[in-house]
Amino acid sequence: MSEFTIPLNRDSEEPIYRQLIRQIKMQIESGSLTPGTRLPASRDLAKSLDISRISVVNAYAELRAEGYLSAHAGRGTFVSRDVHPAGGQQHTGSAETQEEFAMPDSSLRDMMRLARRPGVINFSHGSPPMEFFPMSALRSALNTVLDRDGASALTYELAEGYTPLRNTVRDYVSALGIRCSADEVLITGGAQQAIDLVMQALVGEGQTIVTTNPTYLGVIDIARTRRLHIEGIPMDDDGIRLDHLENFLVDHAARLIYVQPSFQNPTGNIMPMHRRRQLLNLAHEYGVTVVEDGTYHEFRFEGESLLPLKAIDEHHNVIHISGFTKMLLPGMRIGYIISGNHYLERLVRVKLAADISTSGLNQRAIHLMIQRGVLAQALERNNRELQRRRDAALAAAKQYFPAGTTWTVPQGGLYLWARLPRHGPGAAELYVAALQRQVSFAIGSVFFTDGCGSHRMRLNYGLQRPELIEEGFRRIGETWHSLMDTEGDYDHAEKAQVL
Ligand SMILES: Cc1ncc(COP(=O)(O)O)c(C=O)c1O
Repeated sequence: MSEFTIPLNRDSEEPIYRQLIRQIKMQIESGSLTPGTRLPASRDLAKSLDISRISVVNAYAELRAEGYLSAHAGRGTFVSRDVHPAGGQQHTGSAETQEEFAMPDSSLRDMMRLARRPGVINFSHGSPPMEFFPMSALRSALNTVLDRDGASALTYELAEGYTPLRNTVRDYVSALGIRCSADEVLITGGAQQAIDLVMQALVGEGQTIVTTNPTYLGVIDIARTRRLHIEGIPMDDDGIRLDHLENFLVDHAARLIYVQPSFQNPTGNIMPMHRRRQLLNLAHEYGVTVVEDGTYHEFRFEGESLLPLKAIDEHHNVIHISGFTKMLLPGMRIGYIISGNHYLERLVRVKLAADISTSGLNQRAIHLMIQRGVLAQALERNNRELQRRRDAALAAAKQYFPAGTTWTVPQGGLYLWARLPRHGPGAAELYVAALQRQVSFAIGSVFFTDGCGSHRMRLNYGLQRPELIEEGFRRIGETWHSLMDTEGDYDHAEKAQVL
């Protein structure tokens, strides 16, 4: 392996370990590193490139998690035999364009696949726990709908959505402070499709959208697959940093700003009212539409309820999206967009082109469940249980996570957002090792638009009962200590890269 060279740009803002990952992937995909090739030991590669060993360890760990590399105890790290290079085929255009519009990082997909193995204590998915699903209420609603509407529940629905459900959404959001007419409601296939339709309707290929860093992974995925520029603006305790946002908007034309003001995924952050107002004023000043994702708005078990951006939208500049997936049943795929009439026509056209309409049967069943009070009951019961699980997670983090780990104290939502100590393994390496002990979490860097956050992890405490939260966190702490014992010489060289 003496000819193994990796060009690194030390002046780049891209962290060294991300550059390593990118370069090694490129060499595998171009065939210059062939399956079965043994890579240098992390210590040797670090020495020959004159970088810290933690960069190499983290890069190897992430490439293993993505299936590019495999490790064999005592023998070293190898290019996987079953790696399927994808990069070369899917891109066109200049090298720069290829880089910028690279397909979404596949690590979360792989991560989720691995975490789904039976027996794994899974904190990695963004789902509510299955025991929250109101199954008997669903069965009863489906039976009623089929008896009542027969085949008409199964023909093509209006692209805008089933009219009674649109009325119900109007009433539901009015209780949150959003005034709109049913004509301004478009039913979608979950909040994910709602975001995608908005991007398609408002943003052209190559144009820029702005979000927070970190942000919801699904938005990064959409931006990359739709070939949009995505700019992540740093956050503080109050959400998106407006000074950074303004600095960016002064020099760049952005089409929209995507934010989650309440219980943000992945941080659990809440944007206070004064920041909400300032954000809307700034967006208005620069002529940028704000897309508000309210997916977790109702997942509050502490603190006071704040008005959504759409409720204080004096300039008619906010598109609100949300859905009944997390609150009721993810698999029913019912979400919605609330937008002024000026965008709605375009959104309906895009919806028609995407999938003609959202399942009429599912819309009717969800409509009936809401009418029957199932949503209100579920929210009350689920939030109480989520608070219990949040408390269990906080206690277990305190007891088992290594000294120097920090984490948020969420007042709602599903996630604990933690930062591992800088002097130890990154989240990707910890993830790979923790899976051996049958526990998983989400690697923090996938939520950043620029690959930062190497020591961050997101833990969905909502997925597990308190006993398993304790056991899972115990295993994570134990894994960290065992990595420290075996790898030993993590250094302090790259503090600047650890967000
Ligand atoms: C912030 C956020 N928005 C949207 C979605 C997509 O949800 P849905 O299942 O409604 O498509 C998710 C799912 O994880 C999410 O966390």
